[in-house]
Amino acid sequence: GSFLRILGIETSCDETAASIVLRHDDGRGEIAADVVLSQLDEHSAYGGVVPEIAARAHVEALDTLIDEALARTSTSLGDIDAVAATAGPGLIGGLIVGLMTGKAIARALSKPLYAINHLEGHALTARLTDGLSFPYLMLLVSGGHTQLVLVRAVGRYERWGTTIDDALGEAFDKTAKLLGLPYPGGPAVERAAAAGDPKRFDFPRPLVGERRLDFSFSGLKTAVRQAAETIAPVTEQDISDICASFQRAISRTLDDRIGRGLARFSAEFPALGHPPALVVAGGVAANLELRRTLQTLCDRHGFRFVAPPLRLCTDNAAMIAWAGLERMAAGFAADPLDVQPRSRWP
Ligand code: KG4
Ligand code: ZN
Repeated sequence: GSFLRILGIETSCDETAASIVLRHDDGRGEIAADVVLSQLDEHSAYGGVVPEIAARAHVEALDTLIDEALARTSTSLGDIDAVAATAGPGLIGGLIVGLMTGKAIARALSKPLYAINHLEGHALTARLTDGLSFPYLMLLVSGGHTQLVLVRAVGRYERWGTTIDDALGEAFDKTAKLLGLPYPGGPAVERAAAAGDPKRFDFPRPLVGERRLDFSFSGLKTAVRQAAETIAPVTEQDISDICASFQRAISRTLDDRIGRGLARFSAEFPALGHPPALVVAGGVAANLELRRTLQTLCDRHGFRFVAPPLRLCTDNAAMIAWAGLERMAAGFAADPLDVQPRSRWP
């Protein structure tokens, strides 16, 4: 059969990425190449992403990554049917680099350009990896976002819940920093928690029991600080206990918040014709306790739990390419070449 072939570009945060993705006529997606360069080493000394360093690193790496993606698929630029580049939300310097590059290639080849919302990329990934049918629920938990989203169709998203303060990944990162653990904090907290007593500290579970589906994590961080301050000196075991208790509080919170979301979905779509599904995306999806919590919750509510491979949960260009292909297939018009990057784009 025939297919569409698209070049994907992602530069919204601290990952420079390029991909070649195909969409076959039967709707099946195929990742032909997916190259990601993490800037982690460049930022870790600062304990977070430095926008100016990120933008410069994107400039330096992007051309090479695009060449690499083309080389891996023995494709030349001329074989591309369209270009998809992240236009927001994210750090403006990086967005400019990626979108300008996408525009230049689209202009030179006279091919359509799709300016993609990064969150739409995350939202549609499960259709690339698991061929999921609409509608479904998606939980995006990363360093910058914590959102429960109803994915109705391409271009039709409803945000059911979001964080009113810190993102979940941010809560992990700040907790790690408080405890003197390395950046990024998520993996470090998870490692420390493995040897800890999750019942030693009874940390708060904000918004639990409330009807609205929002999240809040900043109180949890404050409680961690207070717990650490009351112990002196803080031993390695104390740190493990705090991390384990922190993860337990998060599990309990998600169990309540997401549980309500699943119930609401079931009430809105009583006769789907296929099992309802919850998809997880974002870097925090690497956390095994979070995965266990969501799996158990889905089992209880009769939902399918879909966790795409981790490299597709974190930032990548395959999801941006796929979002472009989905937009093409759904009949959305390409974007004009004067489309602007947007640091905020809900
Ligand atoms: O999606 P992502 O790679 O990047 C953006 O936020 O753009 O997510 C990174 C976040 C960081 O906050 C990091 O601490 C968190 O994901 N993270 C984890 C784990 N691995 C990464 N959080 C909890 N447990 C983990 N194993
Ligand atoms: Zn992301």
